[in-house]
Amino acid sequence: MGKLLVVGSINMDIVSTVSQFPLPGETIASVRTDFFPGGKGANQAVAAARAGADCGMIGAVGDDSFAAALLAALQQDGIATEQILRKPGSSGFAIITVNEEGENHIVLTAGANGQLTAEDAAAGAGNGADVFAVLLQNEIPWDTNFAVMSSAHSSGARVFYNPAPARAFPDHVFPLLHTLIMNETEAAVITGLAVNDEHSAKASAEWALDKGVEEVIITLGAKGCFYLNKQGQAAAVSAFKVKPVDTTAAGDTFFGAYAAASADGLSAEDALTFAAAAAALAVTKQGAQASIPNKADIEAFLQ
Ligand code: ADP
Ligand code: NA
Repeated sequence: MGKLLVVGSINMDIVSTVSQFPLPGETIASVRTDFFPGGKGANQAVAAARAGADCGMIGAVGDDSFAAALLAALQQDGIATEQILRKPGSSGFAIITVNEEGENHIVLTAGANGQLTAEDAAAGAGNGADVFAVLLQNEIPWDTNFAVMSSAHSSGARVFYNPAPARAFPDHVFPLLHTLIMNETEAAVITGLAVNDEHSAKASAEWALDKGVEEVIITLGAKGCFYLNKQGQAAAVSAFKVKPVDTTAAGDTFFGAYAAASADGLSAEDALTFAAAAAALAVTKQGAQASIPNKADIEAFLQ
């Protein structure tokens, strides 16, 4: 089984529960405040590691008091952190307020994630003879992502890209990608086609395949996902019926688990089913990283 390397964001999520959102100029007391390690990159690394992958991460934390906790959280899941750099200044963090209706306001500070340069990341991503795939998202600078895509592609590692938060990217990037995984919003922004069901997902996937990607996965929340590859193999995998408690990190869990299953040699269809099970389990639990299941839980769920 090959290794996975996640190059991406590492954040501390500061979550304050409030009875109602403060008005402009108002100061209110929180009901409670919790600190949760997060960031899309770290979440995907945790999802991949818990799903059984041998996983390392390239990223950056600050020289602040969050850094040690962020690294420890990754290490607890067996993720290799030797290639995570320390940058002067703050780690990435998100200030999240959640009201009684469960609505949230989020203010994201990139911190060290915004300082991860192409030079920092590309060297590590390019020397991985045994790296099966590099996983990328959109919470580090674009130039860094592009350098990693280029070096990983030329070293023979697969590039798995989840362009979240959604942002369009140039045509010459598509041929560097093995797997492009997008939710409905991301697919709409990137392909310019509205996506809300299997039929529209197919049109969007075909658009991306025409640009030179090997395979496209479009996730459709509780409606499941649609898969299409260059050879014309298509699959529509339903979501498992569960009682949703908190859908935070569903997409990150799906992506990490899919990559782990792919690295383990599963067929696309089996990897998608495994990923759908992992994500279904994640939505039945509160929280982001706290809700990500391990391989034994996923296999038991699939029995
Ligand atoms: P994102 O979190 O990136 O918006 P989606 O909402 O599309 O991603 O969810 C990713 C995957 O998680 C889906 O394809 C599905 O397998 C699973 N999933 C999401 N929501 C649910 C749900 N309510 N019930 C069961 N599975 C879900
Ligand atoms: Na969750």
